[in-house]
Amino acid sequence: MPLYHETYDVRAVIDAPLIGDHAGYYLRLAERFGGPVLELGAGTARISRQLAASGIDATALEISDDMIDAGNRWGQPAPADRFRIIRGDVRNLPRDRTYALVIAPFRMMQELDDETDVIRAFQEAFSVLQPGGLFCFDLIDIQAAPALMHPDPTIQRLPDIRHPESGNAVRISACERLVNPVLRQYREKWLFEEVDAAGRILRTEQSWQVHRWYRRSDIARLLQQAGCKSTIWYGSFRDMELEQPCRPGRDQIWLCQSHFQ
Ligand SMILES: C[S@@+](CC[C@H](N)C(=O)[O-])C[C@H]1O[C@@H](n2cnc3c(N)ncnc32)[C@H](O)[C@@H]1O
Repeated sequence: MPLYHETYDVRAVIDAPLIGDHAGYYLRLAERFGGPVLELGAGTARISRQLAASGIDATALEISDDMIDAGNRWGQPAPADRFRIIRGDVRNLPRDRTYALVIAPFRMMQELDDETDVIRAFQEAFSVLQPGGLFCFDLIDIQAAPALMHPDPTIQRLPDIRHPESGNAVRISACERLVNPVLRQYREKWLFEEVDAAGRILRTEQSWQVHRWYRRSDIARLLQQAGCKSTIWYGSFRDMELEQPCRPGRDQIWLCQSHFQ
């Protein structure tokens, strides 16, 4: 299994104070709106596991076997009667259950190839919502982080982390960013190195992370094309009150109700 997947949960905990506490936000949301919850593109299911541990019925859906395996190996244990993780594609959801809340945390939708896939994923999410249910997802707000639209050749060394099993240090460097303005896509190259106590490099891996960027107007349009007409968005993981006015921030957080034209 690649170091990217093996260290995913460790990195998510370290990243939370820097880029937003996604897990805390979705936990508060689920406590407020109730379950059952479906998490789309759940990765290791770190968020669904927390929901289940808090008493909420949670289903995690993920396409990558490595992510699922990493979660099963090193993720927080979750009660079997309230948690399940299934391999699947957000563009074609199983129809065996419906949900009070469908979530797609941590910029999941930016990993889809194009707008057609995003519309499809939105339609699928709405199709498994219970009447009055809520669909919530977040994306990085490109208007607040315009640097992502520009190439960057610099190497940035991130703080070392510990491998969850070996305890060895894992060095991570963000090596370069390439940008395709036609596809509105940025690709970031990450270098992972596992280093033992004597300073020997045991493993070296490169990993390309590919994301598309969306403006708020793009997402509003895609949601409309998917048949949804009731949405609000927020700019911060601190915002929760539905009455609050929308404010720009580092993230786009969208809350959509299962209401169709
Ligand atoms: C940035 S991660 C977020 C993981 C998790 N939600 C979290 O907050 O830690 C996005 C995840 O979406 C998954 N993914 C990408 N495309 C997918 C698809 N078409 N269907 C299901 N999962 C997908 C990726 O494998 C990855 O694990």
